Amino acid sequence: MTVPVFEGAHTRMPRLGLGTWPMRGAECQRAVESALGLGYRHIDTAEMYGNEEAVGAAIAAAGLPRADIYLTTKVWHDKPDGASFRRAAEACLKRLGQPHVDLLLVHWPSPRLDLPSVLAAMARLRKEGLARAVGVANFPRGLLARAVEADIVPIAALQVEHHVYLSQQRLLDYCGPRGIALTSYTPVAKGMVAEDPVICRIAARHGATPGQVALAWLLAMPGVAAIPKAAGAARQAENLAAADLVLDAADLAALAALPKGRRLVDPAHGPDWDA
Ligand SMILES: NC(=O)c1ccc[n+]([C@@H]2O[C@H](COP(=O)([O-])OP(=O)(O)OC[C@H]3O[C@@H](n4cnc5c(N)ncnc54)[C@H](OP(=O)(O)O)[C@@H]3O)[C@@H](O)[C@H]2O)c1
Repeated sequence: MTVPVFEGAHTRMPRLGLGTWPMRGAECQRAVESALGLGYRHIDTAEMYGNEEAVGAAIAAAGLPRADIYLTTKVWHDKPDGASFRRAAEACLKRLGQPHVDLLLVHWPSPRLDLPSVLAAMARLRKEGLARAVGVANFPRGLLARAVEADIVPIAALQVEHHVYLSQQRLLDYCGPRGIALTSYTPVAKGMVAEDPVICRIAARHGATPGQVALAWLLAMPGVAAIPKAAGAARQAENLAAADLVLDAADLAALAALPKGRRLVDPAHGPDWDA
């Protein structure tokens, strides 16, 4: 199985990665080591997950060339200005034991966000090689457009919730022509897809699993990457093999017809998603 790579305008991202929330400590280290052993080359973490040390230890233990791994981390929304963002990003690298990350994201917008100052901090981190590329997560389209149009630093990726039950077409329409990667989090809808009769029927026809169908649906969209979390090797291997599943037009139509308004991650600190 070969994981396709998205050749974006500002980053080159393997289109399947491992999500690491909410794993911590030894469980997280084991999961990341297992994933790297199976062939995952894209790992997603964040300062808020409290697992950057474990992720860094797993990367070190894997002994792979660093250039082969695409590592993302994110700075929490309580660092709304350039100075605090910079300090937090440096602390992330220290915990990860890494000289750089491949992608550094603003984890959530907040009303206190001083966008130009954070973008300027990200530009500097990128220039200094501490972050190969930068981007944002959980930004609605209007705010994403402000970040892009500020023209302070190229926005390489947007990470948002995206799965068979939640359309992100407005964001895809924005990102696609600009070569911005859209990284889909919660891509198997936290496992809900396993109970869905439509998805189970498609899976049975292909000799695949519902999780693989959900991931293949995302991978059928150009510019989309998915970062399912799975603690154990069997499920990690199952999810990775989704890269080989090709859905036909009838499958895609049936999946497109599923209701698309179900948001599973909607904390009080989240933005107005339609902004
Ligand atoms: N930027 C953000 O604000 C944000 C928010 C949420 C998540 N994320 C990132 O996205 C990653 C993934 O999102 P998520 O963890 O919320 O949701 P998810 O990947 O959709 O679901 C993970 C859950 O589904 C199970 N699962 C995994 N593969 C499966 C399969 N093929 N079939 C059935 N069940 C399966 C996992 O169980 P087991 O582990 O027991 O296998 C786990 O309980 C996170 O780990 C994190 O890195 C980012």
